[in-house]
Amino acid sequence: MSQKIQAVRGMNDVLPSDAPAWQRLHAVAAEVFAAYGYAEIRLPVVERSELFKRAVGEVTDVVEKEMYSFEDRGGERLSLRPELTAGVVRAGIEHGLFFNRQQRLWCSGPVFRYERPQAGRYRQFHQLDVEAFGIATPDLDVEIIALAEALFRRLGVGGFRLQLNSLGTPAVRAAYRAKLVDYLRRFESSLDEDSRRRLSTNPLRVLDSKVPGTRAILEGAPQLPDHLDAPSRAHFETVQRGLSDLGIAYALNPRLVRGLDYYTHTVFEWTSTALGAQDAVCAGGRYDGLVEQLGGPPTPGIGFAIGVERLVLLMRAQEVPLPEAGPQVYFCRFGERADPAAAQLAETLRRRLPGLRLLLNAGGGALKTQLRRADASGARYALILGDDEAAAGRVQVKSLRGEGEPRSVAVSELPAQLAELLELPLLS
Ligand code: HAM
Repeated sequence: MSQKIQAVRGMNDVLPSDAPAWQRLHAVAAEVFAAYGYAEIRLPVVERSELFKRAVGEVTDVVEKEMYSFEDRGGERLSLRPELTAGVVRAGIEHGLFFNRQQRLWCSGPVFRYERPQAGRYRQFHQLDVEAFGIATPDLDVEIIALAEALFRRLGVGGFRLQLNSLGTPAVRAAYRAKLVDYLRRFESSLDEDSRRRLSTNPLRVLDSKVPGTRAILEGAPQLPDHLDAPSRAHFETVQRGLSDLGIAYALNPRLVRGLDYYTHTVFEWTSTALGAQDAVCAGGRYDGLVEQLGGPPTPGIGFAIGVERLVLLMRAQEVPLPEAGPQVYFCRFGERADPAAAQLAETLRRRLPGLRLLLNAGGGALKTQLRRADASGARYALILGDDEAAAGRVQVKSLRGEGEPRSVAVSELPAQLAELLELPLLS
């Protein structure tokens, strides 16, 4: 045997046993997004590296250390997308979606970051991403947050903590940054190595540090919310009032700064203690300067992304009910006459009973073998068609779960009988 080839580290297969949770999440998400007036946009997985450098920021971990970048055969510098926001903005500018228009969009798919894999942290993962453009007022911040809450509620997952902060305008942030650096410089030798490096590259990220010594120093650090200008403070207070009006609980976290550079004003994150160290399931915020920074018309924006793998983990842990996926009926067939007759009958049944999941035996096999496959498939009923039955225009219906004796049913009666047994609608 040749040597086995394994999946790339940090990149996971979603096996059939996991697929129903993914399908459920995407179905509910599509419904909830449509209910709020958001339209889907689909984007390429590969973009020019320059896009992420300019959007996410050159000195962020994501761009500096985690991007999968390469030169294509034409010598172009490209990257696998490490997030979706930059691509949505790029596409919006390219197709003129932002000219004098509001846009409410969502998209989803795989994203790639070269991080150290661990539980809940992967190198290929998936995001469900929502972005809205052209509205600077805080009512949109409230809508965006309410939309994520609605999705969690509709899915039946709970136990999250919503954390909220405001980064204010770029000017507010720059002034605060200077104050923070002044303060941290006084303790430079006691900071952990990572934080020392960030002090000169991206000092706000020091606030994220989980190292106990650094955290102790941060206790006395100046706090961002104390440095907001009046309009930023008013915006943030209106967001908070709007959330309270909708009964959405939140906690203010003055240290929430986010790892991507484009944020302004409101930033937020939903976390769950059930996820362990990688506790963020959904995160986002405003990015009022990003569209312009990428060459578009001045256009405010706000959005969030859900980590699909993490939300699926929570759906499983909280035993969210999932739609049944396996076949309900397994069709056994044997004999020269029965084989094509069964194939035709299977088509008729699938057409007349919408929602029916019927697996037709393929690859032959004795009745015993086929019934073993039927049992292993998880189906509730087996249909059995041999040449004798085919000649008589009848089919045997056998319960595989001890629901009564096998019975012989006329082919003409079969659709109605199955519809009754499986509680499915019947078309003529
Ligand atoms: P982010 O915080 O980098 O934001 O990622 C959003 C979510 O993706 C996280 O909360 C987490 O659930 C999930 N996630 C991140 N990294 C990993 C990983 N290595 N493995 C598994 N899941 C992960 C963004 O990407 C922004 N673009 C969100 C946004 C949209 N802001 C405005 N609009």
